[in-house]
Amino acid sequence: MKILFYDTKSYDYDSFQYTLTDFPEITIEYIKSDLDPRTAALADGFDAVCAFVSSDVGADTLRILHEKKVGLVLMRCAGFNNVDLEKAKEYDIRVMCVPGYSPEAVAEHAIALALASNRRLYKAYNKVRENDFSLSGLMGFNFYQKTAGIIGTGKIGAAMCRICHGFGMRVIAYDVYENASLKDIVTYVSLDQLLAESDLISLHCPLMDSTYHMINIDTIQKMKDGVIFVNTSRGALVKTEDLIEGIRLHKFAGVGLDVYEEETQNVFEDRSDEILEHSTTARLLSFPNVMITSHQGFFTREALEAIAVTTLKNAQDYVEGRESKNDVK
Ligand code: NAI
Repeated sequence: MKILFYDTKSYDYDSFQYTLTDFPEITIEYIKSDLDPRTAALADGFDAVCAFVSSDVGADTLRILHEKKVGLVLMRCAGFNNVDLEKAKEYDIRVMCVPGYSPEAVAEHAIALALASNRRLYKAYNKVRENDFSLSGLMGFNFYQKTAGIIGTGKIGAAMCRICHGFGMRVIAYDVYENASLKDIVTYVSLDQLLAESDLISLHCPLMDSTYHMINIDTIQKMKDGVIFVNTSRGALVKTEDLIEGIRLHKFAGVGLDVYEEETQNVFEDRSDEILEHSTTARLLSFPNVMITSHQGFFTREALEAIAVTTLKNAQDYVEGRESKNDVK
């Protein structure tokens, strides 16, 4: 089976090439371009494409993949909100993903963002490098005995609950389904109660129609003043304009974001003044209590290895015509 691997980074190449030795029936060709309607035709002659969170796997892309007789989209990530599943079904293109490759990798990054924003580590680092050892502007608050509010308690949210519990926090959560494995450490509450009582709020639910812009000025106004807000899930869970308004209203002690709405628009690759001027991400970065990382939650050695292994096992299941729990329908 031949796979065209889009948006290849050197670490993808290394982890997939290393793992490929266990899959003799599979060959991979790596390209730097990401998958979108302009690049889909490059998959001519391939059985499968391998795509990522940044890829455009919408209707136009899928139509072209179908014309080129590609039967499989291998998402090398957990989320698949960028795939038009209806169209994939219509064209009989199988879509597979890698759920839960390392929930701890993302949860540990979420708590890192929470701590770094609370204790202003990014500011402290720069101050000391400039030989300024004063503590002005660095005061934080203890997480111990405070309340952590976790929205979405699937694999990553559950790992985050366990971490917060380990910090000695009271952990409350909101989810449409309760996770029974957390019954000893988490109290489920309504979203409104979570917003009102939490000192740290962390988002861990997927992006869907029902969760799009779930953090907006109405939900922000229900939060405690001085809350730490963290999003490592998907940018569009948050209405960025409203987050900016909330920051202006001094709602947040700190905001830590690993994901943001403009992620797929390469705002910072094309650094033209005009783009930056209108960029909500650039506006967010102008606030001293906001810390943004570039979607690196998944980026650990263990997670990359698990992604490569599961993606290639998914490809093998396709070759052998096996159903899989990693099928996205
Ligand atoms: P999961 O599927 O195990 O858990 C998601 C949870 O959200 C489920 O318990 C589900 O019931 C809940 N949920 C669904 N709708 C909800 C709603 N309206 N309100 C509250 N909860 C709701 O997913 P997992 O593996 O924990 O991943 C969560 C998200 O993390 C992914 O969808 C993805 O967007 C993001 N992610 C980010 C990464 C990064 O590098 N920053 C890497 C991997 C995933």
